[in-house]
Amino acid sequence: MSNPVRVGVAGLGRMGRLHAYNLAERIRRAELVRVVDAELQIAQEVADELRTDASSSFEDLVEDPTIDAVVLVTPTVLHVPMIVAAAAAGKHIFCEKPLGLDIAEAERALTASRSSGVKLQIGFHRRFDPNWKVARTHIETGELGHVMLFRTSLRDKGPPTDQFLSGPLRFLAETSIHDFDTARWMIGEVEEISVFGNAISEEVKRAGDVETAVIVLRFESGALGVIDNSRSARYGYECNTEVLGSRATVRVGNNRRNDVEWLHDGRAVRFLVDDYIGRWPHAYLAEMDDFVSAVADERSVSVTGEDGLAALMLAKAADLSLRAKRQVRVGHRFERGSVFYEIIE
Ligand SMILES: NC(=O)c1ccc[n+]([C@@H]2O[C@H](COP(=O)([O-])OP(=O)(O)OC[C@H]3O[C@@H](n4cnc5c(N)ncnc54)[C@H](O)[C@@H]3O)[C@@H](O)[C@H]2O)c1
Repeated sequence: MSNPVRVGVAGLGRMGRLHAYNLAERIRRAELVRVVDAELQIAQEVADELRTDASSSFEDLVEDPTIDAVVLVTPTVLHVPMIVAAAAAGKHIFCEKPLGLDIAEAERALTASRSSGVKLQIGFHRRFDPNWKVARTHIETGELGHVMLFRTSLRDKGPPTDQFLSGPLRFLAETSIHDFDTARWMIGEVEEISVFGNAISEEVKRAGDVETAVIVLRFESGALGVIDNSRSARYGYECNTEVLGSRATVRVGNNRRNDVEWLHDGRAVRFLVDDYIGRWPHAYLAEMDDFVSAVADERSVSVTGEDGLAALMLAKAADLSLRAKRQVRVGHRFERGSVFYEIIE
């Protein structure tokens, strides 16, 4: 076996801890060299548990010549500056979604990674989920026929934490972005988008954000899409997808916490997961394993920075639709094998 890929993780919230754990314990070709969090105590706690080094400074990752790759799981506003710094130091990069919140800034990150020749993978984990992969294969092989409708739900239990409360684009760019990527990956490019949203809770209203959104898409192929998103469904976390075709339909259901049904007093109760950590253990592991393999085997990553930018552009178009209360048309062009979107009107 070739030498392990030496990786450092920055940002050790719930998501960062999971990635760090997978890298340290479950990904054979990776070696977790250092974990970094702005709070040294957090970094030390995780480092002790995973038997690695701790630091409170991101520079300790980028300036370490022995580190091959960095995994960015810091708050979204830090993604672009950290990508730029890591690319300048020649480190390959796995960055959690979204790439950023501003298109020009996100483009700056892409330019930096491209010009320094490092790999940049974005954390669209659903592409690695075993169930979604099967569903996509049914579409790819043509067994499903022409796609007529793509329908998907993504609902957080909520309520959202402060970090994710600051204007509508935040919800569309943080949550709906997973569905924009899934839509592109499963069905193809989008040409029209209409968004309706509302907020019930005072904190979300005060932030000028929405907590429920219905997004209607028209794909280039003529297929329609309906996405429903909630950031505070309260009852639990759910994500499911259905694709109706001219020959068959495929449905990916909700993972339950277990396969138990509790039948009592005229009721049947099934147990839901609370959050993304419970819903996607296989997908998070598979996406990181794939990134490490891409670095080790010197091949392209499976989800690119350009995919991150495309999904962010769709979030931007969605935000415009929500605010202007109208349909928004988007166009796209291909350049060097990647798609680039623009808002037409
Ligand atoms: N793919 C998914 O399903 C998924 C799920 C959750 C979060 N995310 C994304 O992951 C990112 C992190 O989200 P989170 O919920 O884990 O956030 P979080 O607030 O729970 O954790 C972020 C951590 O980063 C640390 N941090 C802040 N500034 C830092 C710096 N300069 N250097 C190092 N560490 C720093 C904070 O101390 C904190 O521990 C966000 O971009 C979010 O959108 C993705």
